[in-house]
Amino acid sequence: MEVLFLGKKLKNPTVLASGVLGSSFDSLQRVFDSGCGLVTMKSIGPGPRDGHKNPTVINLGHGMINAVGLPSPGFDNMDEEWAALEKRTFPLNASIYGGSVKEYQMVAESVSKRNPDFLEINISCPNSEQHGMIFGIDETSSFEVVSAVKKVIDVPLIAKLTPQAPDIGKIAKACEDAGADAICAVNTAGPGMVIDIESRMPVLAFKKGGLSGPMIRPIAVRCVYDIFRAVSIPIIGLGGITTGKDAVEMIMAGASLVGMGSAVLYRGMKVFDEVNSELSSWLGDHDTDIKDIIGAAHGKEGSK
Ligand SMILES: Cc1cc2nc3c(=O)[nH]c(=O)nc-3n(C[C@H](O)[C@H](O)[C@H](O)COP(=O)(O)O)c2cc1C
Repeated sequence: MEVLFLGKKLKNPTVLASGVLGSSFDSLQRVFDSGCGLVTMKSIGPGPRDGHKNPTVINLGHGMINAVGLPSPGFDNMDEEWAALEKRTFPLNASIYGGSVKEYQMVAESVSKRNPDFLEINISCPNSEQHGMIFGIDETSSFEVVSAVKKVIDVPLIAKLTPQAPDIGKIAKACEDAGADAICAVNTAGPGMVIDIESRMPVLAFKKGGLSGPMIRPIAVRCVYDIFRAVSIPIIGLGGITTGKDAVEMIMAGASLVGMGSAVLYRGMKVFDEVNSELSSWLGDHDTDIKDIIGAAHGKEGSK
């Protein structure tokens, strides 16, 4: 099910979400071989960062809570990874974060020189005190960071947004006005907390964490719906997608591509192949095409 995204041919509309399977060539190649159309690297930061102490990820059955805390070797400590990735034959989305506009610019400029196919800026991570979140909940700072990054890169820019934004449509519009080529929504929701009632303590070492997986899907679908009404650029929709029917729903909200992160835990790496064939079967059964259902939930009035 070949699709065109920002001028690039992808073998299908599924995307590996950032942070779930790392950044190594071997791991990303395996994801691509398992049927994924576009692979996203773990977010790369301005300097070495260990992330939070364990436990950092908990499976709640209906979704996950995580406070991984953006561990990263730092953008200038990744020569080995980039050397291996240079020989790749799969489309690559590099994700970056920073603690200030200057840091975002510095990391983006350096990463863009490694020739990823797309550069995603994570302005939405809720798991770190200093990084990210602040930009994605405010229109002015979202505009500032996107326009600053846009000036120093020469690959298409994707802005990754948080569902915590009071009006995510307005944030998406600010990113589009600042030069973003696409929107990716959503990052984890929350933050949430889980308490172990026997020890009477929060289960995550960081106490609070971002929610992902099926329990956040209705939030993600609403966000993508709001973004579709606010912008004309394409949207990568993600948050809780685990089946082909979930993908259909997200596409109907307005997504052109569908991302998956937690689903890899629930269905294994084969989830990309399976969701693709489930999506194809649904489209075949309904005698329709993916292009015809993008934004279908907006009806005639909302269609573009
Ligand atoms: C363990 C874990 C690590 C994550 N790390 C990142 C990250 O480094 N950068 C980022 O933009 N999103 C990160 N995310 C968020 C995912 O990319 C995705 O937006 C979110 O999990 C919702 O999608 P899902 O419900 O399919 O998992 C992470 C999510 C999880 C569960």
